[in-house]
Amino acid sequence: MAEHRRWPVWAMKILAVLYPGGKAARGNPELLGAAENALGLRRFLKSKGHDLVVLTEKERDLDREIRWADVVITTPFWPAYITTERIDKAKKLKLILTAGVGSDHIDLAAAAKRGIMVAEITGSNVVSVAEHAVMQILTLVRNYLPAYKQVLEGRWDIAEAAARSHDLEGKTVGIVGAGRIGQRVALRLRPFNVTTLYYDYRRLSTVEEEVLGAEYALLDDLVRRCDVITIHCPLTPETDGLFDKNRLFRMKKGACLVNTARGRIVNTEALVQAMEKGHLAGYAGDVWYPQPAPPDHPWRTMPNHALTIHVSGTSLEAQKRYSDGIRDCLERFFLGKPIERDYLIVDGGRVVSPSYSYAFKG
Ligand code: NAI
Repeated sequence: MAEHRRWPVWAMKILAVLYPGGKAARGNPELLGAAENALGLRRFLKSKGHDLVVLTEKERDLDREIRWADVVITTPFWPAYITTERIDKAKKLKLILTAGVGSDHIDLAAAAKRGIMVAEITGSNVVSVAEHAVMQILTLVRNYLPAYKQVLEGRWDIAEAAARSHDLEGKTVGIVGAGRIGQRVALRLRPFNVTTLYYDYRRLSTVEEEVLGAEYALLDDLVRRCDVITIHCPLTPETDGLFDKNRLFRMKKGACLVNTARGRIVNTEALVQAMEKGHLAGYAGDVWYPQPAPPDHPWRTMPNHALTIHVSGTSLEAQKRYSDGIRDCLERFFLGKPIERDYLIVDGGRVVSPSYSYAFKG
């Protein structure tokens, strides 16, 4: 682990880019991830003599403010893209923190080159995402949304809703990326009596596979065999576009795909084609590229989807966990103590997270 320096001698500028809370945040301190509540950091940072600047604007203001920031806090739900150009501008930057999990919106190689530490709050929202993924698998397989829409429309067409509705029991579900979230999805699916396959570049131990009730499969095999696939690997150069036209059309006809990992893992246009041609029966998830998705993003209007905006990892409980994690990182950073080892993505000029260092070999 890299040597850590004690920094508290002068006031630091902490820059946080968070989603606007609007009406929902008014009088609601539990919505910690909203800009108005600033991850509950205001009083703490003030008491230490540091300046906190909170932005919701991701472009103009960020380019100006980042020049003076010692620490930048971002979140995957409302990602401020910390590009090489921005890192170049940020001459004072020492630490970039992700309030959540997934730091692909940061140019990690550029941060490493500059010796900037990058950390995320590993594990903070893994249960939240696993629950969301299972919910969306059921939503698609049971054909929930069209049946619900009929209720709102005053209709009662059983045949129309039932013609696309299945039991999950007996189906084959594939998990791509069997890490913290993928494994929790496998465990939550066990009582549904499905056959679970998983693909990960690191195979789990036999004991772990037994506990999860999951069988290892190579990606192409998994894609060919599954009725439902759920994606839980990080976005890296290796997984960018992993589900391209070729792979999407090699999925079983009538299969469903759920992606709560990152939007770019699935090719935007190829997915629209697979959905419009009816090759896939359903698509769900909560991640898009870019975020927020523009009003004319083609996934918004493609048929048979059950997408949400990026909320799976920001339940109120998750917000508390990632806010506590950010505070812990800052406390340690100010005292010159090492940041929690599991949180570190870039440290000492190197990408140290196993998932990301696999991709950034150099
Ligand atoms: P994790 O690091 O515990 O697990 C990721 C797994 O993916 C690891 O087992 C790793 O070996 C595997 N992996 C990495 N590269 C791979 C590749 N090229 N092919 C196959 N497997 C590969 O991470 P965790 O906590 O399970 O999160 C996974 C991803 O989910 C995050 O990187 C993030 O992008 C996304 N996420 C989304 C959230 C949301 O709100 N929608 C919230 C939290 C995470």
